[in-house]
Amino acid sequence: MRQFLRIVDIPLFEAGQVLLRAKEIKDQKVRSTLLAGQTALLLFEKASTRTRLSFEMAVRHLGGSTIFMTPTESQLGRNEPLTDSARVFGRYVDLLIVRTFEQAKLATLAECSGLPVVNALSDAHHPCQVMSDVLTIYERTPDLENVHVAWIGDGNNMAQSWIDAASYFPFYLTMAFPKGYEPRDHDVIARALAHGAKIFMTHDPAEAMEGAHYVNTDVWASMGQEEEQAKRLKAFKGFEVNAGLMALAAPEAKVMHCLPAHRGEEVSAEVLDGENSIIFDQAENRMHMQMAILEWVTQGIEVDFKAIEALAMNVPKVPPMHAPF
Ligand code: CP
Ligand code: NVA
Repeated sequence: MRQFLRIVDIPLFEAGQVLLRAKEIKDQKVRSTLLAGQTALLLFEKASTRTRLSFEMAVRHLGGSTIFMTPTESQLGRNEPLTDSARVFGRYVDLLIVRTFEQAKLATLAECSGLPVVNALSDAHHPCQVMSDVLTIYERTPDLENVHVAWIGDGNNMAQSWIDAASYFPFYLTMAFPKGYEPRDHDVIARALAHGAKIFMTHDPAEAMEGAHYVNTDVWASMGQEEEQAKRLKAFKGFEVNAGLMALAAPEAKVMHCLPAHRGEEVSAEVLDGENSIIFDQAENRMHMQMAILEWVTQGIEVDFKAIEALAMNVPKVPPMHAPF
């Protein structure tokens, strides 16, 4: 059974194929009956606009149906054990799409339900978002080997999924975090480096911006960190992606943000709403990429090695966790 809890759960070359498939789904407006007669449970412990809607539409476009559930309107909010709930889900539905806090909960749900689980955001990863962001870059610049992506901000779920993406795809990733806000999961970084990821990390946003083609940022206080907002506002001073920082990037560099955004905090309104902002293409691509991810998780994907050759995926320096063949 396939699980999609983080990007590297997809074997290396299959991830390249999923990227090509998502582009094909978008270009050809693919609609299918793959999930006909099947139901996905969307279990969301945190708020969502894009992820919920894009998954609901993705499942529909594949012929399936969805049920949306939150802890407050289920017994999960009254402390029914997750393990019991998961076993119940396994008796009714065919697939779980889950937005939660601890990454470990996703693994518990997978294990106890016996169902495929897709991570719709956890504290540690946002893999669907970053896979679709890679699509947003790829459709503009297919030569990923010569792409420079910058990350300016928190070492959060998005940042960790970008590191996972850089372990597979050959773009150069420069990241700037304030001191004390670096990614917490050192295994994510160690694994990426072992895979030959081209990553540079600094505490200086100007250094990370230099020559970047795609500049990414995200909120300074993620969902669940609301009480840290004031402290973080101070710590992230100088990290606003504004015209001054953008002047250091490559000419015509694109600005990316997974949304929702806080104009005047992590990004200036002028930059976020400017002509080089590609935020709504990112939002749209969620739906196309998630169709490809749902296909992968439910039926797998055959790798066309000729087709993915041009992606120049990173070949790991150490044996991968998954056999690539
Ligand atoms: N980018 C993203 O995941 O948005 P939502 O929180 O609205 O789903
Ligand atoms: N890092 C943000 C992403 C929201 C889509 C959060 O977790 O709140």
